[in-house]
Amino acid sequence: MYKILIMGPQGSGKGTQAEILAKDLGIPAVSAGSLLREEITKGTELGRQVAADTESGRLVPDQIMIEIIKNRLNQPDAAHGWILDGFPRILSQAELLLQFVQPTHAIVLELSDEQSLERLAGRLQCAGCQKIYHEKKLMGKLLVCEVCGSELFKRSDDQPELICQRLAIYHQETEPVARKFEEMGILRRVDGSGTIEEAAAEVKKIFV
Ligand code: AP5
Ligand code: MG
Repeated sequence: MYKILIMGPQGSGKGTQAEILAKDLGIPAVSAGSLLREEITKGTELGRQVAADTESGRLVPDQIMIEIIKNRLNQPDAAHGWILDGFPRILSQAELLLQFVQPTHAIVLELSDEQSLERLAGRLQCAGCQKIYHEKKLMGKLLVCEVCGSELFKRSDDQPELICQRLAIYHQETEPVARKFEEMGILRRVDGSGTIEEAAAEVKKIFV
C-alpha cells in the first residue's frame, strides 16, 4: 500500500504531480495547503484560526495541522493508500506523523528559487475542484475550470515577497525533513525543472 509524501519548494509542482500520480495509482491526492484554503473558504472556526498564517505564508501551528491531516487520512477513500503534498514541513511535524503512520515513499521535486518565482507568478487555481493551471499555457483561452466550470483565482500568497518568505521557510525548516527521510531510506529526489510531463515520467519510474 502506497503512503507517499510529496515535498519540494514552492512551485516545484507538488500539487501538479500529486494529481497526475493519484490518477495513475488510483489513490487520493491530499494537499495540506488546499485543506487549509477549503476551511477558510467555508468560513469555519478552523478556517478563521488558520487564515492569517496561510494567507501570509507562515506555517500553521503543528497541533492544528496534525489534526487536519489525521482526520483526512482517516477518510474511507484513503484506506488503500494516499499521496500527501505539503506535510510534514518541519521536523516536529515529521515526528508527529511518524507516530501514527509509516510513509512508504518521500519524493522531493527539486527546483531553483528563480523558477519557483516565475511559476507562481502565473499560477491560477480552480475555486471548485482546486485544479492547477498556468497563465502561459492558457494564453487567455480559459476563464473557468475545464473540469468543473468554477472560476479560476490567483492565490493571495503568490506575491513575490510572500513567495520569498515561503522559500526561506522551506530551505530552513523543510530541507532537514527531507534529510531525515533520506536517512530512513525512503527519499527519492526528482528534477522538477523540466516540463510537467518530464517530471511526471521521472516520478512514474519510482513506481514501476
Ligand atoms: P501550499 O498550498 O502547500 O503551498 P506551497 O508549499 O507554497 O506550494 P505551492 O502550492 O505553492 O506549490 P506546488 O509545489 O504545489 O506547485 P504547483 O503544482 O501548484 O501551502 C500554502 C500555505 O499553507 C503555507 O505557506 C502555509 O501557510 C500553510 N501550510 C501548508 N502546509 C502546512 C504545514 N504542513 N504546516 C504548516 N503550515 C502549512 O505548480 C505551480 C505552478 O507551476 C502552476 O501554475 C503549475 O501549472 C506550474 N507548473 C508545475 N509544474 C511545472 C513544470 N514542470 N513546468 C512548468 N510549469 C509547471
Ligand atoms: Mg500546491
